[in-house]
Amino acid sequence: MRSKIVETGSYLPEKILTNKDLEKFVDTSDEWITQRTGIKVRHIVAKDEATSDLAYKAALDALTRADVDPKEIDSIIVATVAPDMPLPATALFVQEKLGATNAFGFDINAACSGFMYGLSIADSYIRSNIAKKVLVIGAEVLTSMIEWQERSTSVIFGDGAACVLLDATENENEGMLGIKLHSDGRYTDLMIVPAPGSRRPCSEEVAKSKDRYVKMKGNETFKMAVRHIIDVSKEVLDDVGMTFEDIDIMVSHQANRRIMESVGRRAGLSEDKVVITIDKHANTAAASIPLALDWANRNGKIKKGDVVLLNSFGASLTWSAGVIKW
Ligand code: UT7
Repeated sequence: MRSKIVETGSYLPEKILTNKDLEKFVDTSDEWITQRTGIKVRHIVAKDEATSDLAYKAALDALTRADVDPKEIDSIIVATVAPDMPLPATALFVQEKLGATNAFGFDINAACSGFMYGLSIADSYIRSNIAKKVLVIGAEVLTSMIEWQERSTSVIFGDGAACVLLDATENENEGMLGIKLHSDGRYTDLMIVPAPGSRRPCSEEVAKSKDRYVKMKGNETFKMAVRHIIDVSKEVLDDVGMTFEDIDIMVSHQANRRIMESVGRRAGLSEDKVVITIDKHANTAAASIPLALDWANRNGKIKKGDVVLLNSFGASLTWSAGVIKW
């Protein structure tokens, strides 16, 4: 028994902010953003939209496309760094909105690798018969932790959500073949939102401080990303007895176009095998891989039987890779 992605779904907030829009209030340029990141636009939530609203719509999209009743769902896993609130878990708001009354749900935070960590949990549940049908959702409202005047971060991130529906399969020729996860706690300062939290609970001082915004040492992070993504991808391919030559399509965390192109070149993958959606979605942390996967699935870039390599890199630091026979 193994797990298989049977459908994907997504939701992007209606409001779009272009690089040109940002030029009007941030010291930046369309040219810099495009050349250094590949981003052209990002979606931004409306005032009354929270992470669970996006997650719910993405999940409903996947369930509708798969023609599966929410009551058939056994578990809902939401990967996010921007939960609706500290308690309860965002997954429970999603459960309530869906009417998925037979499910158990919870959130995980592994930053930009959160979706991959969620996928590994879902796969383990399915293999060990704890759950059969599982929704793994990556959902983020990163704009809730952005300081717009800080150009090193404000141009990078966007909001959005996407979901995969996993089910059990007995067919050995399809599904999740392998997954590898890593983290390194020596680099927690590379990407951090220092407060509020139990170390520095919410206070007037925190509310006025810039410490409630995301801080990123982008250049240092960039330098580690390509090496780690290549290494973990080789590791999981080794595990399942494959090489980069067996890969039909690679779907990476969309942090920077240059990172993905460099990984693609080093892996010897032709350009058409590297899915790039950062131009349309920007960096949406845990939502970025499922958003790119959903885009590739809907646009016929992934065919039944394809070997799909997923990989991620994020704060601070987490990285992972997985291989799926679609
Ligand atoms: O998703 C989680 C993991 N995150 C990542 O993997 C992020 C990886 N890092 C990156 O994608 C890139 O490092 C960034 C896109 C964040 C930054 O690109 P970079 O090429 O590393 O730029 P930099 O930070 O080295 O800055 C180069 C120059 C600096 O100017 P000087 O000192 O050379 O005059 C910056 O002040 O670019 C300037 N700069 C900007 N200029 C216009 C930095 N941000 C901007 C901006 N607009 N938004």
